[in-house]
Amino acid sequence: MPAATFDVPFLLGMMRLHEAPALHDPEKLANWIEARLEQGLNWFDHADVYGNGQGETLFGKALKARPSLIPRVNIVTKASIANDNPAPGSGSVKHYNVSPEYLNNAIDSALSRLHVERLDHLLIHRPDLLMDVEATGRALDDAIEAGKIGTAGVSNHLPSQWRRLQSAMHQRLGANQIELSITHTSPLFDGSFDELCSDGQTPLAWSPLAGGQVMQGAVGRCLEKQAADVNGSPSAIALAWLRTLPRSPVPVIGSVKPERISDMLNGPTSLSREAWYELLEVARGHCVA
Ligand SMILES: NC(=O)c1ccc[n+]([C@@H]2O[C@H](COP(=O)([O-])OP(=O)(O)OC[C@H]3O[C@@H](n4cnc5c(N)ncnc54)[C@H](OP(=O)(O)O)[C@@H]3O)[C@@H](O)[C@H]2O)c1
Repeated sequence: MPAATFDVPFLLGMMRLHEAPALHDPEKLANWIEARLEQGLNWFDHADVYGNGQGETLFGKALKARPSLIPRVNIVTKASIANDNPAPGSGSVKHYNVSPEYLNNAIDSALSRLHVERLDHLLIHRPDLLMDVEATGRALDDAIEAGKIGTAGVSNHLPSQWRRLQSAMHQRLGANQIELSITHTSPLFDGSFDELCSDGQTPLAWSPLAGGQVMQGAVGRCLEKQAADVNGSPSAIALAWLRTLPRSPVPVIGSVKPERISDMLNGPTSLSREAWYELLEVARGHCVA
């Protein structure tokens, strides 16, 4: 099966799903998923650690309740963070793990929780400093060749880390999910965004509204002004700011509220140079040199 492409205005991040009790009933979540699909939003971004597996489990129960949704959804999920949030005094240590045993178990567990036969995209969530690159590269290649995952990718990696992993794989790494927003621009200034682009990866921008921060203060006011100029919404302008970059990064949004999701669809696909640099200037508190 060919690798799926991110042909959507944004991915729907599922990090906050377990905090939305109104969507915990499988039928209600199935209705919510169906409404998103009708808006053309068919990529859902999960991780095994979201709600300690609860995010994937809730989603899988909704798919099980309405199996007709299964072929219509595309899934990103992530693995490598082990013992997230250990209970105080439990003796467990949070760590990263990309060993073949860990990854194979993480893939099988995610397939079972999500109630799907394939993960369209599996991302290594955080780089494991103890990675045996040959073993991890082979495990990812094998999972793709077995049809358990469509494509492998990375998140929060340095260019040297993803290149070392790529050098041990014959399949190409696909998506590269980085923290990127108007108020988190370091990848644009430390060279890592350029390196991702030149390596031909698809940039995915997590926390594109900086968890809601960009909607406040001077940046929020500038977004409102630009939104009024085009009769769009401020959140849609914040996403257009990202998409204006080379290779058009695909935002991974966090709100699961339908009205906010609709707002984010209401705006331009890109910004003029002046509008783009105005937001950068307001966020950094100074104009470019
Ligand atoms: N790869 C990684 O390491 C990593 C790390 C973090 C996140 N992620 C992914 O990125 C996704 C998004 O992260 P995020 O939740 O921080 O993203 P975000 O879209 O930057 O922030 C969403 C937050 O902003 C709030 N918000 C305030 N005003 C809003 C408005 N007008 N429109 C929309 N939202 C508004 C939302 O509140 P309400 O909920 O009340 O709407 C929500 O709490 C996650 O779900 C996850 O899939 C990946």
